[in-house]
Amino acid sequence: MPDLCGVQLRGPILNASGTFDAIAARRAFGDALLDAFPFDCFVSKTITVAPRQGNPPPRLWETASGMLNSIGLPNKGLDGFLAHDLPELARLPVPLCVSVMGFDSGELARLVAAVGARPEVALIELNLSCPNVETGVLVGADPDATAAAVERVRAEAELPLIAKLSPNAADPAAVARAAEGAGADGVSLINTIRGMALHPTTREPWLGARSGGLSGAAVRPVALEQVAAVAAAVEVPVVGMGGVASGRDAADLLAVGAAVVAVGTESFRDPAAGRRISAELAAIRSARPAAERGRVG
Ligand SMILES: Cc1cc2nc3c(=O)[nH]c(=O)nc-3n(C[C@H](O)[C@H](O)[C@H](O)COP(=O)(O)O)c2cc1C
Repeated sequence: MPDLCGVQLRGPILNASGTFDAIAARRAFGDALLDAFPFDCFVSKTITVAPRQGNPPPRLWETASGMLNSIGLPNKGLDGFLAHDLPELARLPVPLCVSVMGFDSGELARLVAAVGARPEVALIELNLSCPNVETGVLVGADPDATAAAVERVRAEAELPLIAKLSPNAADPAAVARAAEGAGADGVSLINTIRGMALHPTTREPWLGARSGGLSGAAVRPVALEQVAAVAAAVEVPVVGMGGVASGRDAADLLAVGAAVVAVGTESFRDPAAGRRISAELAAIRSARPAAERGRVG
């Protein structure tokens, strides 16, 4: 059984934050969802202190092999999450990781303290892909800002903290080392890569927020390279993600050093993708010793 920062998981497949709405899925599929839950740990959509409506539409653009989104973190805010979403997420049959993002260090500390005090929560993911209103820098792109953010919140909760890194950084391994040095118990990557699409006739930006984040198959090689670089640079467990759509993709991320793997965009195409990918990965792993024996013999 995989262990993620001291939390036992029944398998190595998580969802990527913001790509699987377990509450809506439970409404649609009822208890059948719980009987065959597609993930081994559930990661919530990122929450912020204040409720957010998200970005103006349109928010999605399909690319040749992926998707651009500018959802903009719509969420009920901390109080709404604790009152309405947390009780429902606590019914899921797997450990719960809550993703949080603060627009300054005080907000992040408040989120970590409030979420970390709840016994339903097993892990906290710090979504560091945000502009810091205090410093003006994108926190997750800068090792010093990342270290400062993690250091500031480390003492606010005893739960394991996973720092989610931005791929839009000059040196993701340096950012990962900074997060580890400041007390992060794990790191996760990649988040989406900044991108843009134009309306086919007006040539104006298609997305309401002008630009968005690229995910899906298109980012898979970037994720593989960055996960490999980060896994080689830190001792803490790495949650690998980015374009995972098959057991083979998951096996690739594990091969370069990820401890566990998260599935994101593929769940929009197939809500049961997590389960299929787990089964494909298990088949690959059980076939491996035979193949290796074959080569030796
Ligand atoms: C529609 C959408 C919403 C997302 N929302 C969040 C979010 O709330 N918090 C976060 O940390 N990442 C968010 N992400 C990024 C994913 O968690 C993941 O890091 C990224 O999409 C790469 O994985 P993938 O290629 O498998 O989708 C979102 C991605 C998509 C496509």
